Amino acid sequence: MTAKLIDGKAFAAGLRGRVKTGADALMSSHGVKPGLAVVIVGEDPASQVYVRNKVKQTAEAGMESIHHELPASTEQSKLEALIDDLNADPKIHGILVQLPLPGHVDSDAVLARITPEKDVDGFHEVNVGRLSIGSTGRSKPIIPCTPWGSLMLIQDTLGDITGANAVIVGRSNIVGKPMAQLLLGANATVTVAHSRTRDLPALCKTADILVAAVGRPEMVRGDWVRDGACIIDVGINRIPKDDGKTKLVGDVAFDECLGHAGSITPVPGGVGPMTIACLLANTLTAAHRSLDLDDPEV
Ligand code: GUN
Repeated sequence: MTAKLIDGKAFAAGLRGRVKTGADALMSSHGVKPGLAVVIVGEDPASQVYVRNKVKQTAEAGMESIHHELPASTEQSKLEALIDDLNADPKIHGILVQLPLPGHVDSDAVLARITPEKDVDGFHEVNVGRLSIGSTGRSKPIIPCTPWGSLMLIQDTLGDITGANAVIVGRSNIVGKPMAQLLLGANATVTVAHSRTRDLPALCKTADILVAAVGRPEMVRGDWVRDGACIIDVGINRIPKDDGKTKLVGDVAFDECLGHAGSITPVPGGVGPMTIACLLANTLTAAHRSLDLDDPEV
């Protein structure tokens, strides 16, 4: 068997196009341009590349992009004061604080400071709680971007996943835990594995849907994969090559898994592009809610 490649790059481009249509329509109907503020603290090169992409794609989607770059030494109180200003700014509908923050900053307190309506990452405890209890209608949570994008790719590939066995490797607040809630909400049977899980290869082999989000290059091997499984690789790891250069690899040994899986996301070009597309979709939703409008369909 050779796995079907799941083209996240193409899916994300389609989603960004629909978000742009929605943003243009909001401008025509209400004179409002969705505004996203991105805050980055320190000089982590990977975060800076990611943030540059976010800023560019926000503008291309017909949205206003504001970018705050603060030194690594920024004090908690200064960061919180900036968030208070952004919370109060009517032109800003979404606020994203790039993680990880420097060690001296209390990240939980920073995330809790963002008003939940502008929390386009879905990391505020109100949005986390709403996702976990399955709130709907006006109380619908804003959903974290990477797991939401992953779910879209899974459902686009498999259709209805009711009753499927899903195994998630990784229990982070950014991906693993919200991914579990989303898959549960879609009626999958969900197991969250982590560094202390016993016999991880055998557990992974039970998965119809295998989500790898551990940040360990090529950890999931070909013989861990059930024949025909759908593999979602959330990892983005830079590793050295023999020629002294570097390359990007996921958390999955891609070449080995190709022969077992039914479908698989490549790295790059799989889950990665979905994260920013979902961020833009969340910003469009936040702008609609600020006007007391129904959530847009994207
Ligand atoms: N760092 C890695 N992924 C993310 C993300 O989705 N949002 C934020 N704010 N920081 C991140």
